[in-house]
Amino acid sequence: MVFSAFLLPALVTVVVALPAFEPGTWKPAGPGDSRAPCPLLNTLANHNLINHNGKNISFAHLNETLGNVVGMEAPLRNAILAGPIQKLGDTFDLHDVALHGDFEHDASLVHDDVATGKQYAPVTVNQTKVVIFKSFSANGKVFTAHDIAAARVSIESDYSSLSDNAVSAGVGEPALVTLAFGSKKDESWVIPVESMLTLLGKERLPNGFVTHDFGLEDLGGLTAEITNDMQAIRAAR
Ligand SMILES: *[C@@H]1O[C@H](CO)[C@@H](O)[C@H](O)[C@H]1NC(C)=O
Ligand SMILES: *[C@@H]1O[C@H](CO)[C@@H](O)[C@H](O)[C@H]1NC(C)=O
Ligand SMILES: *[C@@H]1O[C@H](CO)[C@@H](O)[C@H](O)[C@H]1NC(C)=O
Repeated sequence: MVFSAFLLPALVTVVVALPAFEPGTWKPAGPGDSRAPCPLLNTLANHNLINHNGKNISFAHLNETLGNVVGMEAPLRNAILAGPIQKLGDTFDLHDVALHGDFEHDASLVHDDVATGKQYAPVTVNQTKVVIFKSFSANGKVFTAHDIAAARVSIESDYSSLSDNAVSAGVGEPALVTLAFGSKKDESWVIPVESMLTLLGKERLPNGFVTHDFGLEDLGGLTAEITNDMQAIRAAR
């Protein structure tokens, strides 16, 4: 009895540490494949973790995949999925997400804004923006909350006004990538530059990625930190 009580937590740890999925061969979108302006959704499709052609994506399967693969806890998935994505229905094509307004927004880190007179935003990465974003890593090795804040302040300074959605998603998206593909050091989340840019720029899972769970509280904490840093950076100007 004493032994089993002692061993159980050790066994649980071993099980949790194993990767919960096989990432599959990475293959970028080909002609006719549907893609979103969202690097994370495109990455899942490129690894065949959701339909590689990006079409007929099952909402329920996406929900599961965001949990099993990306590590998002259920309340966080509910918060993100309920609303614009759920409105698309039980199945949808990734390109549906590019409809400007509800979900897709201006001033993103590596995508261009919707063109004047167009309903759908571009879904290809602007590699010039990737290079610019890279320059915001102060030590060239990792992105901290402060580095992300500096990049957001710079991008937002090009706009006279932005929707609330653009402002909150602009902070929330890099925060999610940091939580999923970075790690916590001394109470602060950081993400290797290489991991951030592999995800955002190549739409590919970073090498050696192992799923770890994170939730609403982590997202709330990190977005608050980035937002506070943005205010401090603006105040110091
Ligand atoms: C779409 O996917 C569902 C399963 O999620 C499947 O039952 C259905 O046949 C698919 N439809 C098409 C047109 O491929
Ligand atoms: C996503 O899946 C979880 C179970 O992992 C479930 O509790 C939740 O209701 C699902 N969310 C949505 C928006 O369907
Ligand atoms: C890509 O981003 C750069 C820097 O913001 C911008 O100058 C350029 O016009 C963008 N490219 C396209 C095709 O929009």
